[in-house]
Amino acid sequence: MDNRSLVTIADHSKEKILYMIEMAKQFEKQPNRRLLEGKVIATLFFEPSTRTRLSFETAANRLGARVIGFTDPKATSSSKGETLKDTIIMVSSYADVIVMRHHLEGAARYASEVAPVPIVNAGDGANQHPSQTMLDLYSIYKTQGTLENLNIHLVGDLKYGRTVHSLLMAMRHFNPTFHFIAPEELKMPEEYKLYCKEHGIKYVEHVDFNEDIIQDADIIYMTRVQKERFTDLMEYERVKNIYILKNKMLDKTKENLRILHPLPRVNEISYDVDDNPKAYYFQQAQNGLYAREAILCDVLGITINEL
Ligand code: CP
Repeated sequence: MDNRSLVTIADHSKEKILYMIEMAKQFEKQPNRRLLEGKVIATLFFEPSTRTRLSFETAANRLGARVIGFTDPKATSSSKGETLKDTIIMVSSYADVIVMRHHLEGAARYASEVAPVPIVNAGDGANQHPSQTMLDLYSIYKTQGTLENLNIHLVGDLKYGRTVHSLLMAMRHFNPTFHFIAPEELKMPEEYKLYCKEHGIKYVEHVDFNEDIIQDADIIYMTRVQKERFTDLMEYERVKNIYILKNKMLDKTKENLRILHPLPRVNEISYDVDDNPKAYYFQQAQNGLYAREAILCDVLGITINEL
């Protein structure tokens, strides 16, 4: 019902993405602004989260809003059989925005169709994670000075990793070359490769992950193997440690290279990478605060003076 919802990053034009980056930049300069005074933000997390929930809640607090919500669906009436539709309609009568993470692909789209308030998709199954993409784009822009013509290496679980699905859709405006580095079991799904073909996005697929493959990378985007999405845990055990980025692999990489990861990290980036100036994943997570301040304002139709 409300077209200001953020369900998928594919809905954003190039101009809108650049506008959101500019807004995030302003929030980084001045995070505390009482732009959402009197508003209530609901955070409904049907799946676990550290960064997404806490950065949205911090964003709401820094903008003067109040926050309601839950982190454990077992402690809500959904455990008694209440439908998602009824939950969303009820919470819409309490809050001005609903930020929701759900295990079902399409749950955010569905919620946006039944809610009279904006829905922000904080991750729906293996599908999309558009607020993560906004902070990823902001991080790429900050570190590279541009989003145009970059070599972006996506590494790890490209099948279930919703962050890489959203990122490749957003990058269609910026002429990237993607390198999809994944084992056979976790390859980029056909629907996203088709999306690349339809939008003229260049990509190369690799199974090996080594120094030679990453030599020309501007961005290496590491991902966790998403244990929670596997139906066969034996298969997870086979692939869980398949790629580990080690510090010595970075010796011959480009000076401007930055290593991103949506986090949480399990084992895919060795701890010796953390002190390398090319490691950027903790700053990336911090950028989430500014990107999410921009998102909350945008879905409520609130602009800032500097733009
Ligand atoms: N990147 C991300 O979505 O992290 P959380 O699962 O901790 O929210």
